[in-house]
Amino acid sequence: MKGILLAGGSGSRLYPLTRVASKQLQPVYDKPMIYYPLTTLIEGGIREFCLISTPADLPRFQQLLGDGSEWGLTIEYREQSRPEGIAQAFRIAADFVGSDSVTLILGDNIFYGGDSFQKAFDTFGGGATVFGYHVTDPERYGVVEFDLAGRAMSIEEKPVHPKSNYAVPGLYLYDNEVIQIARDLKPGVRGELEITDVNVEYLRRGRLRVKQLSRGVAWLDAGTSTSLHEASAYVQTIERRQGIKVGCPEEAAFKRDFISLEALDALTHRLPRCEYRDYLCGVVAEAQSQQTRR
Ligand code: DAU
Repeated sequence: MKGILLAGGSGSRLYPLTRVASKQLQPVYDKPMIYYPLTTLIEGGIREFCLISTPADLPRFQQLLGDGSEWGLTIEYREQSRPEGIAQAFRIAADFVGSDSVTLILGDNIFYGGDSFQKAFDTFGGGATVFGYHVTDPERYGVVEFDLAGRAMSIEEKPVHPKSNYAVPGLYLYDNEVIQIARDLKPGVRGELEITDVNVEYLRRGRLRVKQLSRGVAWLDAGTSTSLHEASAYVQTIERRQGIKVGCPEEAAFKRDFISLEALDALTHRLPRCEYRDYLCGVVAEAQSQQTRR
């Protein structure tokens, strides 16, 4: 399965923060926002990525993430010249996806905890898989309605009168049909190619699975200055309490065996002296001691 990181958009709600650096490059506590969705997909076993952003911001992402090889990944880059909808990503990245299945994650969606995604990646067998997450303000999102057996009955984008409290987070898994579905899509009322319309089409075909995320999963929004601050505070709380890092791609790549312990050690020593490096040194030391104990 290939992975698309969608990191475009105008970021107007975060202005003036976004005057010189895009939303997904803003810090969420101790690292750039894009590290978090990237790590979520690495944890899911994805190695081949395409990052989509605006022509102005793309060079900065390239500077930050490079070609991915240091982390055992490949990362390609594509421009979205205008923000014409999330589903446009499948048109832009069609050649990257090729004949593969694909997962798309929004660059401002931060997830932590649970193994729901892991299971979904491991068991994905075609069609589409999306998630339902209980929220207090469903009208801000795509909203899914379930029948008594827990099957999805409808999905609506930002309904005025939501049929449930289950929002659809910005992480989606699709088979290759999504490329053609996105090609055939017409803009919705916002004038954008809506990801919800892609999901509605899968639902119409009887090929949509909606999994409810368990209570143990945190889904954080980082789209406004207040929610960005709250996301930072959340990450800080977890990291300080547990002594682990949330959204650390190097560690996730190592845990997934995308890079060896030696490679992790080498890249850690290339980092400037900082708390992030100290953390990775700790990961290396722990893995080395586990190796000697075996
Ligand atoms: O966060 C989950 C929600 O994301 C879903 O529940 C909704 O169904 C989905 O439509 C989307 O809603 P938003 O209103 O949050 O979408 P927004 O336009 O804010 O875009 C989400 C992210 O995707 C944002 O970081 C910018 C990026 N984006 C968006 C568009 C429309 C792009 O990179 N290009 C685009 O053309």
